[in-house]
Amino acid sequence: ALEHQAILDLPKTELHIHIEGTLEPELALELAARNGITLPWSTLEELRAQYDFVNLQSFLDLYYQLMSTLRTAQDFRDLMLAYLEHAHHDGIRHAEIFFDPQVHINNGLEFDTVMDGLLEGLSIGRERYGITGGLIACIVRDLPVTSAMDTLKALESRREDLLGIGLDSAEVGYPPSLFTEVFSRARELGLHVVAHAGEEGPASYVIEALDQLQVERIDHGIRCSDDQDLMHRLASSDIALTSCPLSNRRLQVVQDLRELPLHQFLEGGIRVTVNSDDPAYFGGYLAANYEALIDSGYSLRECAAFCRNGIEASFIGNRRQAVLF
Ligand code: ADE
Ligand code: ZN
Repeated sequence: ALEHQAILDLPKTELHIHIEGTLEPELALELAARNGITLPWSTLEELRAQYDFVNLQSFLDLYYQLMSTLRTAQDFRDLMLAYLEHAHHDGIRHAEIFFDPQVHINNGLEFDTVMDGLLEGLSIGRERYGITGGLIACIVRDLPVTSAMDTLKALESRREDLLGIGLDSAEVGYPPSLFTEVFSRARELGLHVVAHAGEEGPASYVIEALDQLQVERIDHGIRCSDDQDLMHRLASSDIALTSCPLSNRRLQVVQDLRELPLHQFLEGGIRVTVNSDDPAYFGGYLAANYEALIDSGYSLRECAAFCRNGIEASFIGNRRQAVLF
């Protein structure tokens, strides 16, 4: 119980959260009704029965299907506000939030509709809870590279409203090197760059993301522990890993949290952080991720190190970081 309060009190950042992954089944059904969208499941009970995932793809299938219920700026604002209420409860001070513009554009929405709704939510949340944050637009790697390039063009006019770009969705078979040109253009626009790598894919995808995409953080990166040279490289270059314990367990990347190499990462001087990924799908928001680690043998001191790493790995300036400490 003492640890529970300490976890809540630690000043936390969240650097790996997909806003669409905070869409709770209740809200999805509500939005479906509000927007006249027909889903294959009409009751909460039927929908809830779809959450037993065997791998990343089985989760993505449901995640993309429920995303089709998001239609208006108000939907995105409501989604953001619901997340920020959880974030406030969990003691999060700063959040860098992914979204998948390509999917919404393919669903027939304007990019500006999505941006305007999410930004309005962030702005209300900042006033209400004092949580700072920003948006990172993810490229969906199992869609064609031409679609990624088109999305980047759509982002350009809103460049000032974005922190950066990321790379997500089905990993194996879609290596980072496919997106070298897209990421090079994004860097020219002054955007921060991050990529999912080493979640289901191999350590060599992490190396590609570093070499070809020149990313500043690796999302997940759990498979880095397979490669000692890569571990040294991450430590010496201060590249952070944004790990997501409950996600890894629910997507069967590991069967038990004790298999995660987070002790090794800390001992190796790697800036590893703890995050929730898609909390509405994986059984808990950020504090629940920390608590699951405590239950799996991690100390409060290690949890504090994850928090400190999150502050240091964030894209907020040094002066603001000092305030968070
Ligand atoms: N999109 C949302 N969550 C994801 C994850 N864990 N991996 C890849 N793509 C995602
Ligand atoms: Zn993710």
